[in-house]
Amino acid sequence: MIRIVDIHRTYTEAGNEIRVLQGINLEVNAGEILAIAGTSGAGKSTLLHLIGGLDRPTSGAVFFGNQDIFGFEDRELDHFRNQEIGFVFQFHHLLAEFSARENVALGAMISGTHSMDQSLQQADELLAYVGLEDRLDHYPTQLSGGERQRVAIARALINQPRVILADEPTGNLDRKTSGGVLDLLWDLNDRFSQSLVLITHDHTLAQRADRRVHLVDGKISEAKQIAE
Ligand SMILES: Nc1ncnc2c1ncn2[C@@H]1O[C@H](COP(=O)(O)OP(=O)(O)OP(=O)(O)O)[C@@H](O)[C@H]1O
Ligand SMILES: [Mg+2]
Repeated sequence: MIRIVDIHRTYTEAGNEIRVLQGINLEVNAGEILAIAGTSGAGKSTLLHLIGGLDRPTSGAVFFGNQDIFGFEDRELDHFRNQEIGFVFQFHHLLAEFSARENVALGAMISGTHSMDQSLQQADELLAYVGLEDRLDHYPTQLSGGERQRVAIARALINQPRVILADEPTGNLDRKTSGGVLDLLWDLNDRFSQSLVLITHDHTLAQRADRRVHLVDGKISEAKQIAE
């Protein structure tokens, strides 16, 4: 469903070129859970942002079906991302001045296909699904880390995207809480058959995925097993 073709991403910092991604080729199948591992600084977040159209590559293409997403103008790309991609970031990125239900509903309001009331109602349903029906009107600072991450997952789901991109979604949670968040992601994959691309340093977690790849020296290596 997603085909990443010869993606390069080079950053220029203070006159120095940093060649982070050097020819990435990768496919993500419909409904699959793909784990991406690699050392810190290897370019995992950079790659995830490119897959989701949050950043543009130096060269190369990302196809969704037959559509090269970087053929879109910025506004079309924003619309595509809003409809098709759900991001779950390592640090939840919730908006502090909005309640849980407002944070979740915003994506649906922005898409313009739903009224504010409909969006809030959908947000409430999703928050109930992630076990937060008693926290709808809490602000991010009034939620625990695990609760914030569950709000972030609900937010990622609001427009029923075909793909969830998750960047170490449990990176700063304790083991038990992180287990709960992961079970939730797996449940969602079962229930809605979205693809899930997951960056993780966690060996056990990577083993649960359908497929694992490793990002090394700017390239992908298929790994049966991700080393610690
Ligand atoms: N906007 C930027 N400008 C310049 N260099 C950048 C930029 N973003 C990332 N880099 C560099 O690109 C490299 C890859 O960064 P990236 O965030 O993708 O790594 P990562 O694999 O996600 O690491 P981590 O596991 O620590 O999150 C790093 O060396 C980083 O310093
Ligand atoms: Mg990262």
